[in-house]
Amino acid sequence: MKVLVTGGAGFIGGNFVHHMVNKYPDYEIVNLDLLTYAGNLETLKPVENKPNYKFVKGDIADRKFIFDLFEKEKFDIVVNFAAESHVDRSIENPEIFVKTNVLGTTTLLDASKEFNVKRYHQVSTDEVYGDLPLDRPDLFFTEETPLHTSSPYSSSKASADLFVMAYYRTFGLPVTISRCSNNYGPYHFPEKLIPLMISRALADESLPVYGKGENVRDWLHVHDHCEAIDLIIHKGNVGEVYNVGGHNERTNLEVVKTILKALDKPESLISYVTDRPGHDLRYAIDPAKLENELGWKPEYTFDTGIKMTIDWYLNNRDWWENIISGEYRDYYEKMYSNR
Ligand code: NAD
Ligand code: DAU
Repeated sequence: MKVLVTGGAGFIGGNFVHHMVNKYPDYEIVNLDLLTYAGNLETLKPVENKPNYKFVKGDIADRKFIFDLFEKEKFDIVVNFAAESHVDRSIENPEIFVKTNVLGTTTLLDASKEFNVKRYHQVSTDEVYGDLPLDRPDLFFTEETPLHTSSPYSSSKASADLFVMAYYRTFGLPVTISRCSNNYGPYHFPEKLIPLMISRALADESLPVYGKGENVRDWLHVHDHCEAIDLIIHKGNVGEVYNVGGHNERTNLEVVKTILKALDKPESLISYVTDRPGHDLRYAIDPAKLENELGWKPEYTFDTGIKMTIDWYLNNRDWWENIISGEYRDYYEKMYSNR
C-alpha cells in the first residue's frame, strides 16, 4: 500500500505519520507538506530515517505539481490533513483558507480521480456543524446534523466536505470523511488553546481567555483521532461521514484552571480578553456510528490525556521554545495586544 498523507508536518498529520510508519512497516508513507508557519520537520525526527517514510515539500493547490506527483507515485490511499487550521487567523485573512482548504482539496480530488486512488479520506472537523447552545447538554452533533458554519475557517472546511461528497456521487470516487472534535497532545502548535496556555503559564505570562471562558469544547487526544482515521481508511464504508469524539466536554476556563493546577501556577495569571467574533458556544460529538459500525473506542479520558500532554511539553521544551522564539512573537503581539 502506498499512502499519501498531506499536512504531515503539522500537529495531527505529524502524529498520524508516526502512527502509520510504525504500525505498517510494509506500507510506503509519503508525507506531502508545504511547510507553512504550522509545518515543522522537527516533528518528523523520530521517523525520518525509516525505510517506509518519505517527505515531499509542495502545495496541495499547485495542480501541475500534484498531478505530476500522483502520476509518478501511484498512491493507493490519500489522507488529506493539509489545511489552514486556526479560526483566529481565518478572521484576519480568509483568502488563504479558500485557497488551501477548498482549492487544495479539489485539486487532490481531481488527481485522485485521474489516477484511480482506491480511497480518498478527508480530515474534516465538527466545526462544520456550527455550534450548540450552552443550556442544552442533551444535544450532540450527529452525522445528520446540517452544516451551519460560523467562521471563514469552518466555512472553508464545509465547502471542502461538499466537494468530497460531490466527487463520490458524480464521479464515483471512493471517499470517506471524518469530522473530529478538538484535538490535543504532542506537537500541537502553541497558537491553539492548550499548548498556548501551557507555554505561557510556564513562563509566568498572562493567559488570554476569550470572553468569560464559558465556551465548551469536546477534547480528544490526538492518538485516538489517529486510530479512528486508521480504522476508517481500512474498514469504513465509502461515501460515509464518521464523527469522532470521546465525550470530554470542558469549558475553556476548566481547561485553563486544570493546566494551572498541574503546573502549580496561580489563577491570577488568567486575563479575560475581548471575545472571538462569531465565537462558537459549544461543540459536542455523538460518536455512536464510529463506535457501533467500526468498533472504535477512545483510549484516553481528558484527565489522563491532559496530564500526559503537560508532561510532553515539560519534556520537549526545545520543540516549542524554538517555535515561540521566532516570528510567532509578532503573531502574538498582533493578535493579543490591545485585545
Ligand atoms: P496544523 O495547522 O497543525 O497543520 C496543518 C499542516 O498543513 C501544516 O504542516 C502545514 O504546513 C500544512 N499545509 C498548509 N497549507 C498547505 C498546502 N497548501 N499544501 C500542503 N501543506 C499545507 O493543523 P492540525 O491541527 O494538525 O489539523 C490538521 C487537519 O485536521 C486540518 O484539516 C484540520 O481542519 C483538521 N482538524 C483539526 C482539529 C484540531 O483540533 N486541531 C480537529 C478536527 C479536525
Ligand atoms: O473543533 C475542532 C477544531 O478545533 C478544529 O477544526 C480547528 O482546526 C482547531 O483549531 C480547533 O478550533 P477551536 O477554535 O475550537 O480551537 P482553539 O484552540 O483556537 O480555541 C479553543 C477554545 O479556546 C475556543 O473556544 C477559543 C478559546 N481560546 C482560544 C485561544 C487561542 C481562548 O479563550 N484564548 C485563546 O488565546
